[in-house]
Formats: sequence, C-alpha cells, structure tokens
Amino acid sequence: GCLVLEPAVGRLTGVDTGKGRLPDPEAIYQAALQLLEGRPQDLAGKHVVVSAGGTREFLDPVRYLGNRSSGRQGYALAEAAVARGARVTVVAANVGLPDPAGVDVVRVVSTEELRQQMHASAIDADAVIMAAAPADFRPAEFVDAKIKKAADGAAPDIRLVENPDILLELVAARTSKRPVIVGFAAETGDAHATVIEHARAKLTRKGCDLLVVNDVSAGKAFGRDDNEAVLLGADGTVDEIPLGPKIDLAHAVLDAVVQRMD
Ligand code: CTP
Repeated sequence: GCLVLEPAVGRLTGVDTGKGRLPDPEAIYQAALQLLEGRPQDLAGKHVVVSAGGTREFLDPVRYLGNRSSGRQGYALAEAAVARGARVTVVAANVGLPDPAGVDVVRVVSTEELRQQMHASAIDADAVIMAAAPADFRPAEFVDAKIKKAADGAAPDIRLVENPDILLELVAARTSKRPVIVGFAAETGDAHATVIEHARAKLTRKGCDLLVVNDVSAGKAFGRDDNEAVLLGADGTVDEIPLGPKIDLAHAVLDAVVQRMD
C-alpha cells in the first residue's frame, strides 16, 4: 500500500554516476501531493507505457534533425498514471525535464531506439500511449566525421529516408484487445479538410483505440504547461477537453483508457 520511488540517476558517492541517489525533494514532494489528491486507484496492477519527447536523427557527430516536442505532455501522462496506481514506464526521447517520481524512465535518442524500447515495453503493457514525436524521416546515411563546408560554397544534398511508424507497428503487433493503444496528432486545418476531419482519417489509418488531437494552427501546445485537445475514439466518441494544465488532459486521456480496459 505504499508508493516506492525509484532511486534518482546522477553522481554517486564516488566518481561513478548512475541510478542510486535519493530522489530530489521536489520529486518526493510531488509524489506525496499526488497521493494526497486521492485519485481513484483505477490503474492499480496495470502497466502503462508512455513515449515522450522528440527523436533526433544524426547527420554527423554534431548535427541532427529534430523537432520541438518538450515531453511535457508525456511526462504529465506518466505522473497521472502513477497517481492512479499504475506501474509506469516512460520511454523518453531527449527530454530535458526531471524524471517523474515513481516512474521507470528509459532514455532513447533516435526513432529506431524508441521503436525497439516501445516494442520491448509493450509486451506486458495494459496501455501504450504514443505521446512522443518521432522524426518521420532520417538522413539516408550517417557521416562519421563532421561535414565541412565545400570550398565553392555549395550546399550539401541530404537525402532522407522514411522512418518506420511505431504506432502502426504496435497496433499490428497486438493479438488481443490488450494493450489499449493511444496516438497523438498535431493537426492544422487546410483547404481539403478541418482539423477533426484530418484527425478522424489518421485514427482510421493508424488503427489505434484513441487519438488525442491538438490543433497546432496558431503555434499552440509546444513547450507550454497547458493544452487543449479533442479525444477521438475508434468507437466514434468525441470528447472536447478544454484548455487547462497538461496534467488535467492527462487524466482525461486516462479516463478514456480505463473505460476501454477489460
Ligand atoms: N508516430 C509513430 N511513429 C512515427 C511517426 C509518428 O509512432 N514514425 C506516432 C506519434 O507518436 C503519434 C502518431 O503517430 O502518436 C501521429 O503522429 P503524426 O506525426 O501526426 O502522424 P503521421 O503519420 O506522421 O502523419 P502526418 O503525415 O500528418 O505527419
């Protein structure tokens, strides 16, 4: 009946670093607050896997293609799932935030690493939430030495190849209704369709159970503490989550996940 916090990672008593430090007082305090919130323990005994952040695809030892995802929404989902009693694994791609308390954090850099860790963690998962922003493309080749400017000032040609779609693969690998699988979509409306029409098409294409849709038309959502979204269910449900803290959106997503668990 007690929450066990994982040791924090960092410098240890000798010259070595690793997992083994007392968690930061802030992390202990946040964990205590969450317990005091008295959330229903409707995820007790469940394993929830969340991906967070944005992947990086390296061109050479110093340069990469990346994106603006901060990992805040993924970390809020992890915190919310812990508060509801789940065992939580976060696969974090380049997230610069403190580890959420009570969560097993696995760090990755590239989309391929994220893919491998998601498949490994999903094996015994009850819910998988793909909140990360994997790079859709990577450079066709990695150059071992730093790319130098050409003497004639010509810009290099960088050929890209498409990355695998992890969400699609996780859905395809599922042999029963478990785990419940959630995708995220950052959409803008255009001449062809509205945000929701694009999102509905994406939900069908990806085959997941839920899609959390962010309207990013006006540069909203990135790196902020609040968020608003529409939650689309494969079963046709549409829930509008009003603008509020990312932790509130996280709980709304988990409410929908819990409803879809056996
Ligand atoms: N996703 C994934 N693997 C990828 C790209 C995306 O698992 N290589 C997941 C994201 O984590 C997210 C969902 O797919 O949960 C939707 O991501 P998005 O980039 O919007 O989807 P795309 O299929 O790339 O669609 P678009 O053409 O609109 O970029």
